[in-house]
Amino acid sequence: MTAPVLQNFEKRAPQTFEKHIPLIGDIHQKSAIAYQMTRGMTSAVNAVQMAVAESYIAGVEVPDSALRALFNTCMPVFFKYFPSLLAPYEWVLKETDHLAEGSRDLMKIQYDLPQEMLNPMLGDGDVIYPKYSMGLWQKGAANLEEAQKHMIDDMIEKMDIQDGDNILDFGCGWGCVPNYILSKFPNVRFTGLNLSHWQCEYMRGKMQDPKSFLSSDRFTLHEGDLNDAKFEDKFDKILSVGVFCHVGNLTNSFRKLASFLTENGTVFIHIITVRTPNNISSPFTHKYIFPNGRYWNYDAVPSHNKDLKTVNRWYMNGINYHKTFAAWLENFDANQDLVKDLNYGTDYDRFRRIWRFYLIWLGTNFAVCDGECNGNGQYLMVRT
Ligand SMILES: C[S@@+](CC[C@H](N)C(=O)[O-])C[C@H]1O[C@@H](n2cnc3c(N)ncnc32)[C@H](O)[C@@H]1O
Repeated sequence: MTAPVLQNFEKRAPQTFEKHIPLIGDIHQKSAIAYQMTRGMTSAVNAVQMAVAESYIAGVEVPDSALRALFNTCMPVFFKYFPSLLAPYEWVLKETDHLAEGSRDLMKIQYDLPQEMLNPMLGDGDVIYPKYSMGLWQKGAANLEEAQKHMIDDMIEKMDIQDGDNILDFGCGWGCVPNYILSKFPNVRFTGLNLSHWQCEYMRGKMQDPKSFLSSDRFTLHEGDLNDAKFEDKFDKILSVGVFCHVGNLTNSFRKLASFLTENGTVFIHIITVRTPNNISSPFTHKYIFPNGRYWNYDAVPSHNKDLKTVNRWYMNGINYHKTFAAWLENFDANQDLVKDLNYGTDYDRFRRIWRFYLIWLGTNFAVCDGECNGNGQYLMVRT
C-alpha cells in the first residue's frame, strides 16, 4: 500500500510540474514565468491568425476547401493540446467591469447590419423567424427550419415550460423563440429584451401582423441594453440563447437575473462553450464580427454559483453548429444578388470576404475533435 505522504506527492506532482510549463493546461495555474511565456506565444498566434484572415479579406484567392483544410489541421492541435493559445487577450481570462462591454459597437458591427442581408441568411419563415443560434440536427432535421424547431422543442422540454408561465427572453433576437413558444402554449406570456434597434423594428412589424403570435397581447418588447435592464414583473422562467458570449461578467449577470425571478423560478442559459480549461476568443471575430465576444469554458457557469446555482447542464455536440453555419453560408452565397448593393459602411467585396471568412472559420471550428471540444452548453439554474 502506498504511504499517505507518497500518495499526496503523486497527486500534486503533475500539477506542480505542469505549473512551470508554458502553453499546456490551465493558464490560471501557471507560475509567473510560464504565464508570461504563454502570453508572448499567444501574441504570435494572434498575429498569424490575423495575417491569414486579412490576406483573405484583402482579396488573396483561396478556395474554401483550402481554408477548411488549414483550420482542420491546426485547430484540433490548439483545442486538445494548447488551449491557452486560443485566449487572445487578458480580458478573456477574467470578468469585465460591465455585464457586457462595448454593446453599441457590437450592434453597429453585427446585429444592426442591413436586415435584408441577415434575415434570409438566418432563415425567415412563417413561424420560425430569423434565429441566430444553433439548430439541433442530431434528431434528423432535414433543413435549417426543422433544426431550429427541434432546438426550441428540446429547450421547452428541458425548461419544463408550463402553460401560463411568465417568461423573459434575455436577448431575444428577432423574437423567434417567443413566437414559436407562444404558438404552442395559449396562456404563456413573454417579455423580450434586445438592444438591436432593427431587430426590434422587425418584431414591432410582427406585433402588427395578425398572423404572428407576437401580435397577441401576451408579448411585450423592451428595446434596451441588458446592462440597464429592469422589469416590473417577476418571471417564472428566464431564457437566454446565444447572448452570454457577449457577457463578460457572470457573477453580476447572475445576480441581476436572480433578482428578476419568482421564488421558484428557473433560468435557462444556452451558450457557445468550449471544453478547454479556460475561456477562449478570436482576434479575427473580436475585430470584425463580435467585439468583446468570448466563449466560456464548460465549467464557467456552474462555478459562478453565488446567486444562481446550476442544477442540470447539457453539452451539445458542435456538429450541430457546424451544420447550422453551413446552412447560413449557403443562404448567404445564394442571396448575393439581393444583398450586394446594401450599405455596409464598407466596400461590398471586402464585406463579403469578411463574412465568408467568419462563416467558414466558425463553421469549421465547431466540427474539430468531432464536435466534442467546441459546442454549445445549456444550463438550468435556480436561486441559491
Ligand atoms: C446571437 S443573437 C441570439 C438571438 C436570439 N436569442 C436567438 O437565439 O436567435 C444575440 C442577441 O443578443 C442581443 N444582445 C447582444 N448584446 C446585448 C445587450 N448588451 N443588450 C441587449 N441585447 C443584446 C443581440 O441584439 C441579439 O439579438
